[in-house]
Amino acid sequence: MKFFIDTANLDDIREAYELGVLDGVTTNPSLMAKEGITGADNIKAHYKAICNIVDDNVSAEVISTDFDGMIKEAHELVKIDDKIVVKIPMIKDGVKAIKHLTDEGIRTNCTLVFSAGQAILAAKAGASYVSPFIGRLDDVSTDGMELISQICNIYDNYGYETEVLAASIRHVMHLIQCAEIGADVVTCPLNVITGLLKHPLTDIGLEKFLADYNKGNS
Ligand code: E4P
Repeated sequence: MKFFIDTANLDDIREAYELGVLDGVTTNPSLMAKEGITGADNIKAHYKAICNIVDDNVSAEVISTDFDGMIKEAHELVKIDDKIVVKIPMIKDGVKAIKHLTDEGIRTNCTLVFSAGQAILAAKAGASYVSPFIGRLDDVSTDGMELISQICNIYDNYGYETEVLAASIRHVMHLIQCAEIGADVVTCPLNVITGLLKHPLTDIGLEKFLADYNKGNS
């Protein structure tokens, strides 16, 4: 399973990368705004700064909602760095844009996916990644994890190469359940990645081992 970090915060991206387990980064316009990054040029420069930290897979989202605009933006985004994956919303022109960009050899991440039907369309169009949003479904009393399971089964049935990128992950159990189901990728905030480290028995055990070592060496 690939680990992506879901942030535009450079310190968090560096920290996850230095842990040695990071495979990519997802951003969206809201995450950029949260870091105070506004304006097309600043946003592009920020994508470049992210690409300079990680090895590959930096999702950069288009703002246009029409086919021509999305293609133009995608071409500009991939010029920033080879590591860019163009994030396209699951709308009618988005599906057309994914097909067009896939035919051109440009990697895409189909975002704002909330149903199995949408995920089938994304795969048919050739998206490199499909991003179902677990947390936002849970927020409206719908089982986000059930959608991950459904999409994984459907993609397995037909051997679709589109990777299931579980997004909108809010806590460690979301990540673990995605791993059990077999999602290809999870994207989550730094606290979820570091949350995997935590177990009180590890801390108690280490404290005891060190105390016993020190007894023998004092
Ligand atoms: C990532 O690609 C998505 O934009 C992100 O996971 C959405 O997460 P949120 O629902 O916590 O905003």
